[in-house]
Amino acid sequence: MVLVSNKELMDKAYEEGYAVGAFNINNMEILQAIVSAAVEENSPVILAASTGAIKYAGMDYLVSMARVAAQSVDIPISLHLDHGPDFEWAMRCIRGGFTSVMIDGSKYPYDQNVALTRRVVESAHACGVPVEAELGRLVGVEDEISVTEREAFFTDPEEARNFVEETGCDSLAVSIGNAHGIYKGEPKLDFERLEEIHGVVEVPLVLHGASGIPDHDITRATKHGISKINIDTELRLAFRDAVRKVVCETDVYDPRKFVGPARDAMREVVRHKIRIFGSKDRA
Ligand code: 13P
Repeated sequence: MVLVSNKELMDKAYEEGYAVGAFNINNMEILQAIVSAAVEENSPVILAASTGAIKYAGMDYLVSMARVAAQSVDIPISLHLDHGPDFEWAMRCIRGGFTSVMIDGSKYPYDQNVALTRRVVESAHACGVPVEAELGRLVGVEDEISVTEREAFFTDPEEARNFVEETGCDSLAVSIGNAHGIYKGEPKLDFERLEEIHGVVEVPLVLHGASGIPDHDITRATKHGISKINIDTELRLAFRDAVRKVVCETDVYDPRKFVGPARDAMREVVRHKIRIFGSKDRA
């Protein structure tokens, strides 16, 4: 198949009450791990690339690998810009062949976030590309702040409703207690807030920072409008642990002998996530 857009994948997931996994890619083995897991589970999947990944691997390499992957299999795959920082990056990715973009204006005051998101939406839609936006800040797990201070960054339901109406974005990433990276202690999602947002916002919702969130909370979130779930850290940890095991326990120096097991380990992480997201057999 050719690369499809996030909108096709997410609108179906939203209607049917499951989520599509967005897994971060940086190189060929990570991409292969994700795609082979999705094929085994007969699931749609989103390949997410940050600007850091694009700088690391190169735009043409990443897009070409994603296209080859999509053309080699019978499941729907999209290529999505993760946390696009500005208008220029969003346009660069659309020109480069991405089929979906995120514009992350969450670091700006509300009005500035609206203006930036609307500008990206107008141009992306003219190219047939859907846009994910973010409202509310994801505070890093490493930030030493109190629970009350953290909650001040959570997405406000009424503001979210207005934001979606004013910007025309296709999906919205929310802040409800989720954070990027490795959680200190058990993460606590604010489900009351999520239900409120789901009740007033008309588009599919996105959960970032999902590594480390317990399986039952993930599945519960998919019943309240979360239609895309982002995983990066758990793939990195699986990669690191598998490489470390071979490198520390043997004296092999053929990269295939440690990157190969890393690919296998990441594939198992993705398979498990697909099952708890509910996207197995939804291809
Ligand atoms: P984790 O690294 O916490 O899995 O989050 C990934 C993510 O949200 C990418 O946008």
